[in-house]
Amino acid sequence: MKRYDFDAPVERKGTGCVKHDGMVKDYGTNDLVPLWVADMDFEVADEIADALHKRTGHRVYGYSVVPDSFWKSIFRWWRKRHGLTITRDQIIYIPGIVKGIGILLNFYTQKGDKVVVQPPVYHPFRRLVEGNGRVALSNPLVETPEGWKMDLEGLARIMREEKPKMMILCNPQNPIGIQWDMETLREVARLAHENGVIVVSDEIHGDLMLQGRDHIPYLCAGPDAVATGIMLGAPSKTFNIPGLVSSWCVIKNPELRKPFFEWMEVNEFDAPTQMATIATEAAYDFGADWLDQVLEYLQGNVEAMEEWLKRELPQLKIVRPQASFLVWLDMRSLGLGEPELEDLVINKAGLAVNPGAMFGEGGDGFARVNIALPRKRLLEALEKLKKAVEKQ
Ligand SMILES: Cc1ncc(COP(=O)(O)O)c(C=O)c1O
Repeated sequence: MKRYDFDAPVERKGTGCVKHDGMVKDYGTNDLVPLWVADMDFEVADEIADALHKRTGHRVYGYSVVPDSFWKSIFRWWRKRHGLTITRDQIIYIPGIVKGIGILLNFYTQKGDKVVVQPPVYHPFRRLVEGNGRVALSNPLVETPEGWKMDLEGLARIMREEKPKMMILCNPQNPIGIQWDMETLREVARLAHENGVIVVSDEIHGDLMLQGRDHIPYLCAGPDAVATGIMLGAPSKTFNIPGLVSSWCVIKNPELRKPFFEWMEVNEFDAPTQMATIATEAAYDFGADWLDQVLEYLQGNVEAMEEWLKRELPQLKIVRPQASFLVWLDMRSLGLGEPELEDLVINKAGLAVNPGAMFGEGGDGFARVNIALPRKRLLEALEKLKKAVEKQ
């Protein structure tokens, strides 16, 4: 088995990537350490790059068929890795997860309908709901001594009293990296079924479980989940191929699924590009070893960051992610307001992080730090943060 070297820096500047080349749009400069956009500064598995090279070597890029092997690679992966059985009639391609949520909102809800989001959470959720003229109902997460939890009582009340049509669940959760346990998912499903709410479960980070955890798909949380659930999945975060846009939607409930799938097909929103199918198949069929090595490396980065902070900057601490490569950095002890905190981290330390406030209620005083980069670079970034904090 090949050992990948994730310590080796990869120059991404000039490749048109948002994280490096698109920084100026959001931060006014391209010269910060890029710790924001959620992709990894690691090269992909050899098999993915080789499969793409092989196809691009043939210089005709006409209309393509979607081979059965594409679907089968998804089914095998989800069954083996997460215990979820998917059949061909239950799945449809979608052109990205954010676009997929936008499509679902437009298909299943009307302007003015209410949709539950649970901040702090991936910021496009609220933007999608409000930008499409729907009403976002917040059910904020609660911070407890045992970690961040879902407010199930709050959810029950909102569902009973506010009559939302849909809920957007981030499973596992970005930005805090929480794994929702089976009990929580079952309760969400029970409440949703009782109140006729569709649950859109965004599982894009599901393959990136840390600490040896197994991802629990929403659709595995019993009959209520099967009745209410629309699961969105992708190999994009997992294998660092989001630029190729490969994602899908699984709906097990035939009544929920049929009209939507027909509408997707008639509009041809369900047609993947050939590069997406090639990369996906190669990733799922041959990428498991690479992924296991990435997960080990990411866990090492989490631990290195935690130890470094304890030793060098003990005022700050992290919420240990149970999933993915995004770390929720708690900077509340600095006692700064949001603009001062952003000024410190972004302008003074020179780090392009996502300010916690961006993720909604409960985010103030935090920053989301992308740690999918060579460890040495991560520690250099933390040194910059320390210098800026000490100069305060
Ligand atoms: C929870 C979550 N959903 C969706 C996305 C984006 O997915 P896509 O690029 O397929 O729209 C991200 C990217 O960071 C994410 O964290």
